[in-house]
Amino acid sequence: MSSQARNFSHGEKIFTEGEAGSCAYLIEKGHIEIFIGHGDSEVVLTTLGPGEVFGEMSVIDGSPRSASARAHGQSELVVISAETISERIDSSDPIVGLLISTMLRRMRRSNQSVGGQVNVEEQSKLLLQSKSKISPEAEESVRDKMRMESELKQALVNGEFILHYQPIMDVQKGSVSGFEALIRWQSPQRGLVRPDIFMSIAEETSLIVPIGKWVIEESISALKELNKLHRSLHKDAEDLFMSINISGRQFHDQGFHSHLQKVIESAEVETSQIKLEVTERIFMEGPAVVQSIRKCRDMGFHVALDDFGTGYSSLSYLAQFQVDSLKVDQSFVRTMLEDDKTYVITNSIIMMANGLGIPVIAEGIESGKEHQTLRSMDCRFGQGYLFSRPVPLKDALDFLVSSTAQRIDLAM
Ligand code: C2E
Ligand code: CMP
Ligand code: CA
Ligand code: CA
Repeated sequence: MSSQARNFSHGEKIFTEGEAGSCAYLIEKGHIEIFIGHGDSEVVLTTLGPGEVFGEMSVIDGSPRSASARAHGQSELVVISAETISERIDSSDPIVGLLISTMLRRMRRSNQSVGGQVNVEEQSKLLLQSKSKISPEAEESVRDKMRMESELKQALVNGEFILHYQPIMDVQKGSVSGFEALIRWQSPQRGLVRPDIFMSIAEETSLIVPIGKWVIEESISALKELNKLHRSLHKDAEDLFMSINISGRQFHDQGFHSHLQKVIESAEVETSQIKLEVTERIFMEGPAVVQSIRKCRDMGFHVALDDFGTGYSSLSYLAQFQVDSLKVDQSFVRTMLEDDKTYVITNSIIMMANGLGIPVIAEGIESGKEHQTLRSMDCRFGQGYLFSRPVPLKDALDFLVSSTAQRIDLAM
């Protein structure tokens, strides 16, 4: 806050109702009367004291002063600039912005009813002039976000989430090595909603913790079933793994590790069969998250670095943090055949990871040509629509059977 202080003597006006407001004030000493109307029809709304702020309403939404202010006794005020306020509001969650404009409108309406007999016309004019900080479209999208957040809470209770499983193939052998669990929301109002729409909202709130727990329980129980079938199909084959996407906030949760441990024990699954997929963004969330990920590795869980190559300083993360596999982002696979530079980068990532002993999973393989190219680059694993889209558990089980009957070798 600016330390620009101003002194007012008893009865001195600070500003008048209806004026444009350019700053707010923090009361350091003395008292301030907030009133509407004038002369005989004046109504005092409140008297404020040290530590309180006033004059913020017109600064927040650009409307005229909703009331007048005058000093009651000798007063010292600190001026708070419009920028100080707007910078804070602009950088906050848009939902906070919407809540503030709602409260301001409500406050003006209530002033209007208090001053009813005083100056209805003037107060109504002020109410009309009060405008929201954001456009009507942006306000609507904020409202929809609030709606979705409330629906998501209910969705968990109503069991509206489902998991789809996408096979992760051994690119060299053409056999299934594991699956990635991908959440979907079967909303009664919105239909099937993809995670990039609702998971960011869940991640901004604590909702990600119970949703994440459900994903862990559901996917590990699916892994048990998939492995049962897999073992019956291939007597000496290695067990399948399950890749589970984990958000930063889940690693902050105190009960995260004990929950994981409990779930794998009751499903009789080994820690090494679970790959926790994290994006490199997570490493910027501070030492507590890094510590929590390290603890997972100490417990035997595998950690896969997702969307590799899309962020920055990826290479320093590889040196700093130990990971068990690396997922080359699908944007590389999509363009490597058209763009020579992307081809070289993809090839180099795989060579580097192989050199470090970290297996690579290539994402978004859609064509036989891409599969063939990745195989020639010595990429170990791959997933993509070429093999299968993410599908419900029943179809994932069918996929295990059909891929056994016919080795997936679509590049040939
Ligand atoms: P992701 O972890 O990078 O997942 C891969 C995404 O690529 C999935 O999108 C998948 O359906 C899609 N994909 C797979 N193969 C292909 C392909 O060949 N071509 C194309 N164009 N796309 C392909 P999806 O299922 O919509 O998930 C989007 C993101 O949502 C995920 O990206 C992940 O970040 C997040 N997510 C999904 N499930 C969970 C979850 O259970 N927990 C958390 N925290 N995040 C999740
Ligand atoms: P602003 O509208 O900028 O100028 C008048 C200020 O008086 C307003 O900001 C608030 O800080 C304050 N104010 C307006 N109405 C009330 C009220 N009903 N109670 C307390 N303070 C108010
Ligand atoms: Ca993933
Ligand atoms: Ca990814």
